Amino acid sequence: MKFFIDTADVKEIRKANEYGLVDGVTTNPSLIAKTGRKFEEVIEEIASIIDGPISVEVTALDTDGMLKQARNLAKMHDNFVIKIPMTLEGMAAVRKLKTEGIKTNVTLVFSANQALIAAKAGATYVSPFVGRLDDISAPGMELIEQIVQIYDNYDFDTEVLVASIRNPIHVMEAAMMGADVATIPFNVIDMLARHPLTTSGIDKFMKDWASVPK
Ligand code: G3P
Repeated sequence: MKFFIDTADVKEIRKANEYGLVDGVTTNPSLIAKTGRKFEEVIEEIASIIDGPISVEVTALDTDGMLKQARNLAKMHDNFVIKIPMTLEGMAAVRKLKTEGIKTNVTLVFSANQALIAAKAGATYVSPFVGRLDDISAPGMELIEQIVQIYDNYDFDTEVLVASIRNPIHVMEAAMMGADVATIPFNVIDMLARHPLTTSGIDKFMKDWASVPK
Protein backbone atom coordinates (compact mmCIF):
# COMPACT_ATOMS: atom_id res chain seq x y z
CA MET A 1 0.00 0.00 0.00
CA LYS A 2 1.32 3.42 -0.96
CA PHE A 3 1.56 6.17 1.66
CA PHE A 4 0.62 9.68 0.55
CA ILE A 5 0.82 12.57 3.00
CA ASP A 6 -2.37 14.63 3.34
CA THR A 7 -1.04 18.13 3.84
CA ALA A 8 0.16 21.27 2.05
CA ASP A 9 2.62 22.09 4.83
CA VAL A 10 6.06 21.74 3.25
CA LYS A 11 7.77 21.35 6.64
CA GLU A 12 5.64 18.27 7.36
CA ILE A 13 6.27 16.94 3.85
CA ARG A 14 10.05 17.35 4.19
CA LYS A 15 10.06 15.67 7.62
CA ALA A 16 7.96 12.65 6.56
CA ASN A 17 10.05 12.37 3.39
CA GLU A 18 13.23 12.11 5.51
CA TYR A 19 11.71 8.96 7.04
CA GLY A 20 11.07 7.57 3.54
CA LEU A 21 7.35 7.48 4.15
CA VAL A 22 6.03 9.64 1.33
CA ASP A 23 5.08 8.06 -1.99
CA GLY A 24 2.90 11.04 -2.92
CA VAL A 25 0.98 14.06 -1.60
CA THR A 26 -2.66 15.09 -1.49
CA THR A 27 -3.81 18.66 -1.00
CA ASN A 28 -7.20 20.35 -1.03
CA PRO A 29 -8.37 24.00 -0.89
CA SER A 30 -8.68 23.90 2.92
CA LEU A 31 -5.13 22.54 3.36
CA ILE A 32 -3.77 25.20 0.97
CA ALA A 33 -5.66 27.94 2.88
CA LYS A 34 -4.10 26.72 6.15
CA THR A 35 -0.60 27.48 4.81
CA GLY A 36 -1.46 31.18 4.25
CA ARG A 37 0.60 30.99 1.03
CA LYS A 38 -0.21 31.29 -2.67
CA PHE A 39 -1.54 28.11 -4.29
CA GLU A 40 0.94 27.94 -7.20
CA GLU A 41 3.89 28.72 -4.94
CA VAL A 42 2.96 25.91 -2.51
CA ILE A 43 2.32 23.21 -5.10
CA GLU A 44 5.52 24.05 -6.99
CA GLU A 45 7.52 23.73 -3.77
CA ILE A 46 5.85 20.40 -2.98
CA ALA A 47 6.77 19.15 -6.47
CA SER A 48 10.39 20.15 -5.84
CA ILE A 49 10.47 17.97 -2.68
CA ILE A 50 8.50 14.86 -3.69
CA ASP A 51 8.96 12.84 -6.86
CA GLY A 52 5.55 11.17 -6.90
CA PRO A 53 1.90 11.91 -7.58
CA ILE A 54 0.73 15.24 -6.08
CA SER A 55 -3.02 15.84 -6.01
CA VAL A 56 -4.00 19.45 -6.64
CA GLU A 57 -7.66 20.42 -6.65
CA VAL A 58 -9.70 22.47 -9.12
CA THR A 59 -12.06 25.07 -7.67
CA ALA A 60 -14.40 25.57 -10.66
CA LEU A 61 -17.73 23.77 -10.41
CA ASP A 62 -18.67 23.65 -14.11
CA THR A 63 -17.09 21.16 -16.54
CA ASP A 64 -15.46 23.76 -18.79
CA GLY A 65 -14.03 25.64 -15.83
CA MET A 66 -12.65 22.41 -14.34
CA LEU A 67 -11.10 21.44 -17.68
CA LYS A 68 -9.43 24.82 -18.07
CA GLN A 69 -7.93 24.72 -14.56
CA ALA A 70 -6.95 21.04 -14.92
CA ARG A 71 -5.08 21.63 -18.19
CA ASN A 72 -3.19 24.58 -16.72
CA LEU A 73 -2.22 22.61 -13.61
CA ALA A 74 -1.18 19.56 -15.67
CA LYS A 75 1.11 21.83 -17.72
CA MET A 76 2.83 23.06 -14.55
CA HIS A 77 4.23 19.66 -13.52
CA ASP A 78 4.12 16.06 -14.81
CA ASN A 79 3.43 14.75 -11.30
CA PHE A 80 0.28 16.81 -10.74
CA VAL A 81 -2.87 14.70 -10.47
CA ILE A 82 -6.02 16.77 -10.83
CA LYS A 83 -8.48 16.47 -7.99
CA ILE A 84 -12.04 16.78 -9.24
CA PRO A 85 -15.14 16.83 -7.00
CA MET A 86 -17.62 13.96 -7.27
CA THR A 87 -20.35 15.66 -9.30
CA LEU A 88 -21.83 14.86 -12.70
CA GLU A 89 -20.04 17.94 -14.11
CA GLY A 90 -16.86 16.59 -12.53
CA MET A 91 -17.33 13.17 -14.12
CA ALA A 92 -17.67 14.77 -17.58
CA ALA A 93 -14.34 16.52 -16.90
CA VAL A 94 -12.69 13.28 -15.72
CA ARG A 95 -13.79 11.47 -18.89
CA LYS A 96 -12.35 14.21 -21.12
CA LEU A 97 -9.10 14.50 -19.12
CA LYS A 98 -8.55 10.76 -19.47
CA THR A 99 -8.60 11.08 -23.26
CA GLU A 100 -5.96 13.82 -22.91
CA GLY A 101 -3.73 11.64 -20.71
CA ILE A 102 -4.24 13.83 -17.62
CA LYS A 103 -4.48 11.91 -14.32
CA THR A 104 -7.41 12.58 -11.98
CA ASN A 105 -8.37 11.97 -8.37
CA VAL A 106 -12.13 12.05 -7.73
CA THR A 107 -12.65 13.57 -4.30
CA LEU A 108 -15.44 13.92 -1.74
CA VAL A 109 -16.64 10.35 -2.33
CA PHE A 110 -19.05 9.06 0.31
CA SER A 111 -20.84 6.12 -1.34
CA ALA A 112 -19.99 2.97 -3.32
CA ASN A 113 -22.14 4.16 -6.25
CA GLN A 114 -20.17 7.40 -6.44
CA ALA A 115 -16.97 5.33 -6.56
CA LEU A 116 -18.46 3.14 -9.31
CA ILE A 117 -19.32 6.22 -11.38
CA ALA A 118 -15.80 7.64 -10.86
CA ALA A 119 -14.23 4.39 -12.08
CA LYS A 120 -16.53 4.26 -15.12
CA ALA A 121 -15.52 7.84 -15.94
CA GLY A 122 -11.88 6.69 -15.95
CA ALA A 123 -10.55 8.29 -12.76
CA THR A 124 -6.95 7.42 -11.87
CA TYR A 125 -7.75 7.55 -8.13
CA VAL A 126 -10.95 7.65 -6.10
CA SER A 127 -10.89 9.31 -2.67
CA PRO A 128 -13.49 8.02 -0.19
CA PHE A 129 -13.46 10.17 2.99
CA VAL A 130 -13.60 7.68 5.87
CA GLY A 131 -13.16 10.08 8.81
CA ARG A 132 -15.97 12.38 7.73
CA LEU A 133 -18.28 9.35 7.46
CA ASP A 134 -17.27 8.19 10.95
CA ASP A 135 -18.05 11.74 12.14
CA ILE A 136 -21.70 11.27 11.17
CA SER A 137 -21.88 7.73 12.67
CA ALA A 138 -21.59 5.93 9.31
CA PRO A 139 -18.67 3.44 9.40
CA GLY A 140 -16.19 4.87 6.90
CA MET A 141 -14.12 1.72 6.50
CA GLU A 142 -17.18 -0.30 5.38
CA LEU A 143 -17.20 1.94 2.31
CA ILE A 144 -13.61 0.95 1.53
CA GLU A 145 -14.53 -2.73 1.72
CA GLN A 146 -17.41 -2.15 -0.74
CA ILE A 147 -15.30 -0.16 -3.21
CA VAL A 148 -12.40 -2.66 -3.16
CA GLN A 149 -14.89 -5.47 -3.89
CA ILE A 150 -16.65 -3.59 -6.71
CA TYR A 151 -13.37 -2.61 -8.37
CA ASP A 152 -12.14 -6.22 -8.10
CA ASN A 153 -15.40 -7.55 -9.58
CA TYR A 154 -14.90 -5.52 -12.75
CA ASP A 155 -11.11 -5.17 -12.86
CA PHE A 156 -11.28 -1.38 -12.78
CA ASP A 157 -7.86 0.29 -12.96
CA THR A 158 -8.93 3.14 -10.66
CA GLU A 159 -6.89 3.09 -7.45
CA VAL A 160 -8.64 3.25 -4.08
CA LEU A 161 -7.09 6.13 -2.14
CA VAL A 162 -8.36 6.13 1.45
CA ALA A 163 -8.75 9.78 2.53
CA SER A 164 -9.85 11.69 5.62
CA ILE A 165 -7.78 9.31 7.74
CA ARG A 166 -7.85 10.28 11.42
CA ASN A 167 -6.05 7.44 13.26
CA PRO A 168 -3.75 4.41 12.85
CA ILE A 169 -6.70 1.97 12.84
CA HIS A 170 -7.90 3.53 9.58
CA VAL A 171 -4.44 2.83 8.08
CA MET A 172 -4.27 -0.75 9.35
CA GLU A 173 -7.79 -1.56 8.12
CA ALA A 174 -7.09 0.05 4.74
CA ALA A 175 -4.06 -2.25 4.38
CA MET A 176 -6.05 -5.32 5.48
CA MET A 177 -8.71 -4.50 2.87
CA GLY A 178 -6.16 -4.10 0.08
CA ALA A 179 -6.66 -0.38 -0.58
CA ASP A 180 -4.05 0.92 -3.04
CA VAL A 181 -3.18 4.13 -1.18
CA ALA A 182 -3.72 5.73 2.21
CA THR A 183 -3.33 9.49 2.39
CA ILE A 184 -2.29 10.20 5.94
CA PRO A 185 -1.93 13.42 7.95
CA PHE A 186 1.50 13.98 9.51
CA ASN A 187 0.31 13.39 13.10
CA VAL A 188 -1.04 9.95 12.15
CA ILE A 189 2.19 9.02 10.29
CA ASP A 190 3.98 9.85 13.53
CA MET A 191 1.61 7.60 15.53
CA LEU A 192 2.09 4.63 13.15
CA ALA A 193 5.65 4.00 14.32
CA ARG A 194 4.89 4.33 18.03
CA HIS A 195 4.06 1.64 20.58
CA PRO A 196 4.29 2.01 24.38
CA LEU A 197 6.15 -1.31 24.63
CA THR A 198 8.70 -0.07 22.07
CA THR A 199 9.24 3.10 24.13
CA SER A 200 9.52 1.28 27.48
CA GLY A 201 11.70 -1.43 25.85
CA ILE A 202 14.16 1.18 24.53
CA ASP A 203 14.21 2.88 27.99
CA LYS A 204 15.07 -0.42 29.69
CA PHE A 205 17.79 -1.31 27.18
CA MET A 206 19.34 2.14 27.62
CA LYS A 207 19.27 1.87 31.45
CA ASP A 208 20.76 -1.64 31.42
CA TRP A 209 23.39 -0.60 28.90
CA ALA A 210 24.47 2.24 31.21
CA SER A 211 25.32 -0.38 33.91
CA VAL A 212 27.58 -2.43 31.56
CA PRO A 213 31.27 -1.80 32.50
CA LYS A 214 32.96 0.27 29.80
O1 G3P B 1 -7.60 15.53 1.43
C1 G3P B 1 -8.90 15.11 1.66
C2 G3P B 1 -9.18 14.51 3.02
O2 G3P B 1 -8.17 13.65 3.39
C3 G3P B 1 -9.59 15.51 4.05
O3 G3P B 1 -9.58 15.00 5.36
O4 G3P B 1 -9.66 15.36 7.79
O5 G3P B 1 -10.51 17.17 6.26
O6 G3P B 1 -11.78 15.06 6.56
P1 G3P B 1 -10.42 15.68 6.55
